[in-house]
Amino acid sequence: MTTVLVATEKPFAKVAVNGISDILKKAGFEMKLLEKYTSKQQLLDAVKDVDAIIIRSDIVDEEVINAGTKLKIVVRAGAGYDNVDLKAATNKGVVVMNTPGQNANAVAELAIGMLIYLNRNFFNGSSGVELRGKTMGIHAYGHVGRLIGMISKGMGMDVYAFDPLIEKVIIENDGVKAFASAKELYSKCQYVSVNLPANKETKESINYDLLSVMPEGATLVNPARKEIIHEPSLLKMFAERKDFRYATDTAPDCEAQIKAEYPNRYFATPKKMGAQTEEANINAGLAAARQIVNFILKGDKTFQVN
Ligand code: 3PG
Repeated sequence: MTTVLVATEKPFAKVAVNGISDILKKAGFEMKLLEKYTSKQQLLDAVKDVDAIIIRSDIVDEEVINAGTKLKIVVRAGAGYDNVDLKAATNKGVVVMNTPGQNANAVAELAIGMLIYLNRNFFNGSSGVELRGKTMGIHAYGHVGRLIGMISKGMGMDVYAFDPLIEKVIIENDGVKAFASAKELYSKCQYVSVNLPANKETKESINYDLLSVMPEGATLVNPARKEIIHEPSLLKMFAERKDFRYATDTAPDCEAQIKAEYPNRYFATPKKMGAQTEEANINAGLAAARQIVNFILKGDKTFQVN
């Protein structure tokens, strides 16, 4: 029998787990559930005799891949797969997939929510600022970026984007002005959302060179990964620009210093919350289950990333 492990340190909503279980049952597969685990050993033990794994931000490194002696496929129920050792998977002939777009709306809504929360001074009773009529910059116009653009337009913001991988005409069809460089975007936009994946090219790419040209009242929102931010630049911005604010779904390593020195201009979720909605869990979780069934039964490799 084909066995699928759902290994989620941060669990899906119950309704999503039930949906995954139904899809797997219908295909004649068995589901194993490992939620809220606290040690890597639990994951190593659980992966031993399974054919497939569904994960979220759970770390699937070489040791985990090697422990899965029957493992054929890993599906990251979500967008970013920087938590999976693709090389180790490829070496063992294990297919890795993600479920692009499935949780994007939840992430986009969180980005806007964090912007509002920070610019309304944490709802502490003092006067904040509104987003209407302001400039919103979208750095990387993928699934999340596009939705942030739609919401921002609905709020009456002027929306701009930079994404060298997406044709200008596609961005401008959405009523969003496309810039040819990141620097142009940052120099035009008071608010910038960074929606880049974390990889070799993007690591620490959001640096002082970009941030320092942001207009007065600059707020950077990062619903992506902490690794894309150059932290010394972030600290320099906080120190030099009394107007600079930062909101993020993944706290930087230098968080303690920011919290101590600039508590009123910083917000981070206590745990990565971007995709933590029932809808996103259902969309990404069920897509992952379907992708596994289609791969095992039909060899369908759509969304393979390695
Ligand atoms: C993603 O890459 O899909 C998001 O960052 C969500 O991650 P999560 O599933 O760990 O919440």
